[in-house]
Amino acid sequence: MVYVNENILKTKRVFPRQNRYHCHRYDMNENPEGLPKEFVDEVLKEVTPQFLSIYPEQDRFLKKYSDFIGVGFENVIATNGLDMAIRYLLEIFGEKNKNVVTVSPSFEMYWVNCNILGLKHVPVPYNDDLTLDINKILDAINEDTRVVVLVNPNNPVGNVYSNSEIEAIVTKAAKYNALVIVDEAYHYFYDKTFLNHVFKYDNVLVMRTFSKLFSMAACRLGVVIGNKKLIEYVKTARLTFDVNSFALLFGEKILDHPDLIDRLIESERKGKEYTLNLLKENNYKCMESKGNFIFIETKTDAHVVSDKLEKEYNVLVHAYGNEMLRKYIRVSTGSIEAMKFFMDCLLKCDK
Ligand SMILES: Cc1ncc(COP(=O)(O)O)c(C=O)c1O
Repeated sequence: MVYVNENILKTKRVFPRQNRYHCHRYDMNENPEGLPKEFVDEVLKEVTPQFLSIYPEQDRFLKKYSDFIGVGFENVIATNGLDMAIRYLLEIFGEKNKNVVTVSPSFEMYWVNCNILGLKHVPVPYNDDLTLDINKILDAINEDTRVVVLVNPNNPVGNVYSNSEIEAIVTKAAKYNALVIVDEAYHYFYDKTFLNHVFKYDNVLVMRTFSKLFSMAACRLGVVIGNKKLIEYVKTARLTFDVNSFALLFGEKILDHPDLIDRLIESERKGKEYTLNLLKENNYKCMESKGNFIFIETKTDAHVVSDKLEKEYNVLVHAYGNEMLRKYIRVSTGSIEAMKFFMDCLLKCDK
């Protein structure tokens, strides 16, 4: 037998399901409808044989993106989705057998990467009613902590952190020279940001993705934002041509269309409001999140509803094995039109 790293042997992965193209997708916090076709057609006109023959160059995208969010060019780096950014940051700032603190449940790739890299994951659980005690996070940070992760708004659950909470966590982490990653994958659905903290503190990095509001999950484009020194470490560690040219081109072009970005924000906001109202009218309990998703407590078994939605209407939602979330389905939110379709199917399947 060939040698295999023991961390890989110990890691069990659950991969996203395949064959979703022909389905109505409300299961992975994507935009159920995607970007306007005219925009996509327009961008594709720039794909020429020469464009394909050149290795990807990040700089033009980074210049535009850093101007767009109002930071310096030296403060940003693009990655192959936040998926890759998570790997890089844990590789660079994690230490073997030392702690990475996250809340639990949270985005699972944090603990998956901890396992792969041999880092010790320290999950801080929510209370049974899905509230979170910040003191428990503070208590978990100690001399063995190398990284603390705060997903804001968190996925799943959808809760957010206040200024004073983040500041207490960042200050405690700084005391032990630990990095705080603020994962803002759901920024724009929720406009409060802790971006200014990357300049206020030495130990904070913020991450954003183009997969959610910008509706380009297929491109794989994520961004890490931080002080020059921290970003230099990421540059050193990353793969040379990490982000492909299609992602950089689409990323650049959407930044040229602030009107389109505003329309995407407004469309999701209205769709979510519509859905919450209709759920209320139909006596559903739900947990509104600050991201582009809602947790709906189904009237009949959540797993049965999820199966029915798929079998009868080709609608995908996310149901959980996790005890705390077992009674819910998580549903991505999009335009009113997309949500009308979903609600019609839900009301037929959950009675
Ligand atoms: C909180 C959070 N972080 C990171 C990611 C990964 O994003 P990307 O598509 O950029 O890899 C996701 C994806 O769902 C997420 O929910």
